[in-house]
Amino acid sequence: MAQIVCLTNFVLLSVLLFTLVQAEHPVVYRRSRARAFIESQCKATLYRDLCVRSLSYYAKNLTSPFSHKQLAQIALKVTLAKAESTRAYVTNVAKELKQTKAKYYQVVEECLSQISDGVDQLTNCIIETRNIKEDDKSNDFPWHASNIQTWMSTALTDSSTCIDGFSGRAIGGKTKAMIKAKVVNLEQLTSNALALFNRFAARYRSAHVKKPKV
Ligand SMILES: *[C@@H]1O[C@H](CO)[C@@H](O)[C@H](O)[C@H]1NC(C)=O
Repeated sequence: MAQIVCLTNFVLLSVLLFTLVQAEHPVVYRRSRARAFIESQCKATLYRDLCVRSLSYYAKNLTSPFSHKQLAQIALKVTLAKAESTRAYVTNVAKELKQTKAKYYQVVEECLSQISDGVDQLTNCIIETRNIKEDDKSNDFPWHASNIQTWMSTALTDSSTCIDGFSGRAIGGKTKAMIKAKVVNLEQLTSNALALFNRFAARYRSAHVKKPKV
């Protein structure tokens, strides 16, 4: 008798556990699938580890079925946030240098204007991605895509112009190194976001753009 009770309890407990695990499962399962999606898409980028690291926190933002457009938009937002924090940092450094009349103030000021331009370009890109509809009836995808690609390339050039301004000058020391590290990080995020956008654009084209009849 005791054995039967014990067995019944065991069965009940198993059922309970099984139900709990089942209930928990979809969320965990979706997150890990979202992460796998991010990892597979990041393979198309130049800085894969950074790509996975910068995006996996936002796996929860991806809704199933996972969309390449959504991932490209998330990458753009992450890049814009980095561009804004870099701009804030360089703004503060420039203020300090202006007061101390440091020799390399001019270089930092020029870098700041590049980063600010990059912030504008990335902001425009995010707005433009919203004009891309999943069902392309107007056929204006090539126009939106080429705008985004142009602006992201400009943002990429902005970062590297800033970095170039610092190289070969025996000035600035630690401050220079700090700015450079931040801008290199921004440049890499921008490059990754562009690669993810290009990947989305290629898929979109093959799915939507009608092939000319032969
Ligand atoms: C992720 O989702 C949250 C909540 O919806 C939102 O506030 C945030 O901006 C999103 N982040 C990105 C990078 O898309």
